[in-house]
Amino acid sequence: MGNSPGVKFAPSILSADFSRLGEQVAETTRAGADYIHIDVMDGCFVPGITIGAPVVAAVRRWTDLPLDVHLMIEAPQHQIEPFVDAGADIITVHVEVCPHIHRVVEMIKGLGVKVGVALNPGTPLNTLEDILPYLDLALVMAVNPGYGGQAFIEAMVDKIARLRAELDRRGLATELEVDGGINTEVAPRVVAVGAGVLVAGAAVFNSEQTVAEALGKLRSSVVRGQG
Ligand code: DX5
Ligand code: ZN
Repeated sequence: MGNSPGVKFAPSILSADFSRLGEQVAETTRAGADYIHIDVMDGCFVPGITIGAPVVAAVRRWTDLPLDVHLMIEAPQHQIEPFVDAGADIITVHVEVCPHIHRVVEMIKGLGVKVGVALNPGTPLNTLEDILPYLDLALVMAVNPGYGGQAFIEAMVDKIARLRAELDRRGLATELEVDGGINTEVAPRVVAVGAGVLVAGAAVFNSEQTVAEALGKLRSSVVRGQG
């Protein structure tokens, strides 16, 4: 825990055992995760339907970690308040579904939580250009959202590097989060080009190891990569 300075891990409960979700969240907390990443899908913006605000409220009762709520939903402006009331600490919306992104970002901040904006793999970085100074977090999707366990899209390494360069050039402390396909091989490579928060679902929740073992391996891979 805390042995890879600067890099945060946000396990995605999408791949957790939902029949014992509370225990899995508690286990993830004990294992030293930094955030709990919660993937909300609406069956419109992405194919699947997953988690609603009542489940976020249930997760809230099992951890003190920040809840990093990733809204993969259309018209997210109508859904923000229930997730804030449920205990979200960070709300991330997709730029692809927000023509009035500035208004949505201000609305989220006005409710007293942190705000993130996510980009699909095919969405250009310049869609963030004018909103970047308002953000606590920028999320680069490294898979097309909708499912856990997909393969990392290699072209996203360059996109992460370009976003890091832009944040540094403008002196912004915005967290750079990467989501999708993170494992012990990919993690050090995205950290090397400037990722600061790594979401990981299938690499953390699987039948081959405990959450603590899996998270430990991810952290070591990053430390080795930095060494
Ligand atoms: C993808 C979700 C991700 C997903 C990551 O639609 O936004 O958070 O759970 O899972 P892995 O790490 O398995 O790619
Ligand atoms: Zn996600």
